[in-house]
Order: sequence, then structure tokens, then C-alpha cells
Amino acid sequence: MLTTNKKLLDAAKTGGYAVGAFNINNMEFIQGITGAAEELGSPVICAVSEGAIAYAGFEYIVAMVSVAAGERSIPISLHLDHGRDPGVIEQCIRGGFTSVMIDGSNLSFEENVEVTRRVVDMAEPEGVSVEGELGKLAGVEDNVSVEEAEAKFTDPAEAEEFVEKTGVDALAIAVGTSHGAYKFKGEPMLAFDRLSAIASRVSIPLVLHGASGVNQEHVKLANDHGAALKGTKGVPDEAIIEAVRRGICKVNIDTDMRIALTAFIREALAGQPDVIDPRKYLGHGRDAVSLVVKNKIKLFGSEGKA
Ligand code: G3H
Ligand code: 13P
Ligand code: ZN
Repeated sequence: MLTTNKKLLDAAKTGGYAVGAFNINNMEFIQGITGAAEELGSPVICAVSEGAIAYAGFEYIVAMVSVAAGERSIPISLHLDHGRDPGVIEQCIRGGFTSVMIDGSNLSFEENVEVTRRVVDMAEPEGVSVEGELGKLAGVEDNVSVEEAEAKFTDPAEAEEFVEKTGVDALAIAVGTSHGAYKFKGEPMLAFDRLSAIASRVSIPLVLHGASGVNQEHVKLANDHGAALKGTKGVPDEAIIEAVRRGICKVNIDTDMRIALTAFIREALAGQPDVIDPRKYLGHGRDAVSLVVKNKIKLFGSEGKA
């Protein structure tokens, strides 16, 4: 059944676990993700970026996730990830999404409050929940010192004010993670004290973006079959467990599925040089997505919480 992020995340906060938000781009992702969640009796969030909408088409995304929500015996949310285009955000609110993220993290605090408040005002009457973002995810390519990186992290006092002024249902925070497969140059480090400080001032569920672990076995499998991924590093599983313990209720994963799907498809193609039937390798890709999602559900503690 289709449900909102708010319902899933409020229950997660009470229960002390997190719900995974997994990015979808096509049928294989949707089937792999929702199939894995159903097998483990877990709620799940299908996250859709503006790029995914441009790739697959709005109506296809809504229709395919609606089919999954109708046939799977678990609650599924259809969520806009990193919404920035006001036209797309409105289309999602009016067109069947149950949750939207407005990402104003590139704006000043005041502008972020203003655009986020506007989205909440539009979404609330439609029963659509809203995630805001405060602070900037630090990318390793930024090549900055620890002090400079921390300056971009979410400020606890600002987080409290932001939530009060905007009325968002969930807040994405920056505590040291970043998107993609190259998250840290040295040792992975998250600002756990800051996370706890934010959690003590903000009563709504907190969200961790850029949370992929970048499984080195999958990276090796891809590299063994022609990929060239060097210097990849993700967030260790223990850090995710600690983040959930300190108040993270939604964990966003895209990169881990991308790597696994690519690795499994590369392996399948290399092992069957005569194959031209796409189902023979796309099926392996779908299995890879399912494998990643099952491991994440266990890590986040949402197994059996559907
Ligand atoms: O945080 C962004 C997600 O990984 C989606 O990426 O915009 O390339 O679809 P995308
Ligand atoms: P990863 O790149 O770490 O998978 O993060 C995904 C994400 O935050 C999507 O919003
Ligand atoms: Zn993100």
C-alpha cells in the first residue's frame, strides 16, 4: 500500500530504527527494492530524483510504483528526492507522490526557510509530507580542511529554528557524509556529537543522505570485469548503526545499488559472451539491487516493521 514518509518515519522514531530510502530509475530498481522489502517485512521509501523523472518519465514512475504498492504487502512511500525545481515539486505533490523533499541547502538560511515553507503550505493540504535540508553535504572533491568542512555542517540552533519556521515533517542534516562513491580521503568520520546535539533540539525525524557503504567486494567485482573505480570509500556499517542510535530515522542509499547492479551486469555479460537477451543480464542487476536492499534493511533495523 502507498503511504507517506511521515507515517513511516514517525513510527521509526518511536521504534528506534530507520527506514531506507532507495533511489529508483527503472522497473528493475522498483522490483528489486520492493521485493526485498516485502521479503523482510519492512517498510520502504522509493526515492525519485529530478534526474530519474527526466530519465523514466513522470507517469511511468508513478504508474510503476503504484503497481508495486498494490501488489506488495508492505507500506511503500513514493518520495521526491532533492527537489529543487518548483514545477517538478508541484507536479509531484499533485500527481501521486506521497512525500517530497525540498532541497534548499544551496540557499541562504532565510531563503531556504522561505522556499521550504512555501512547499509545506502546498503539500500539507494534499496530505503529502515534506523533508527539508539544512547544511551542505561535504564532498571529498571539495578538498577542504576539517574546520572548513565542519563549517558547512548543520548548526543545531539553526536546525531548531528552521523546523519551527518551516513546519517540515523531516530534516536532512549534514554531519560529514556526501553523495557518491568517494566520500572520504582519510578515515571515515561522522560528527556524532553534532548529530546528538541536533537530535536534542529537534523533535522530528532526522535524515542521513550520502549514506552508502561502498562495498569493496562489489567494487572489486566491477573492477575485475572492466570497471576502473579507484579510491572509493563509503560510510562504515558501524557508523550507520551509531547514527540511527542517535536519532537518524531515514537513510538514503543510491550509490551502493549503482555499484552492485553495474558489477553484477558486468559479470553476467563477461560470463555469457554470446548473450544478447537483455533479460539475461538485467535480471542479475535486479538481483544485485535486491541483495543490497536486504542488507540495508537489516542494518537499519526495519526488518519486520511493516
Ligand atoms: O542524491 C542523489 C541521488 O543519488 C540521485 O542521483 O540525481 O543522479 O539521479 P541523480
Ligand atoms: P549515496 O550516494 O551515498 O548512495 O547517497 C544517496 C542519497 O543521499 C540520495 O539522496
Ligand atoms: Zn541525497
